[in-house]
Amino acid sequence: MGSVSLTNVSDMDDEHEACVAALNQLISARSYTSLEQVLNIFQTHFKHEEDLLDQYLYQNHQKSSETKSKQMEVDDAKSTSGFATNIQANMRASHFSDHKRMIQALRQQLSALENIPANEGGSTISETQANHQSRVVSNEFIKQVITDFETHAETYDTYGDSVLAARPTHA
Ligand SMILES: [Fe+2]
Repeated sequence: MGSVSLTNVSDMDDEHEACVAALNQLISARSYTSLEQVLNIFQTHFKHEEDLLDQYLYQNHQKSSETKSKQMEVDDAKSTSGFATNIQANMRASHFSDHKRMIQALRQQLSALENIPANEGGSTISETQANHQSRVVSNEFIKQVITDFETHAETYDTYGDSVLAARPTHA
């Protein structure tokens, strides 16, 4: 696969490149280990991205759903600024839950592969090889992971200008 669209936030773009590299490795190896590597890289990247967005874009929404009373939410919804606030809170919630969904899909696939019985009926070399071959990640699943990642980047990772405007420039 090629690169995903740039956010112009250099650390996030570097991490997206690392995600793409891990996905390309998965395309060629189709192994349990390469899938595990995609999970690790996604987890690290999503955590960094969520911390960055909470620091510069969503600083008022991190705990809003837990700490706000129902009345405060109603008041927010009635006011114009409350309307904008709700849009931000919804964007944060749907962006971060899309991260969770992708992580969940990778975890489920890894555990499905783990559950393939090891060396059923014996331990000859050919049985061991057959067992390893059965742990090949399907092209269908890989395609889905890539489509999800690209769609996510186009839909949610468009925060570049806002983050750059809010974040102090590095010396
Ligand atoms: Fe994201």
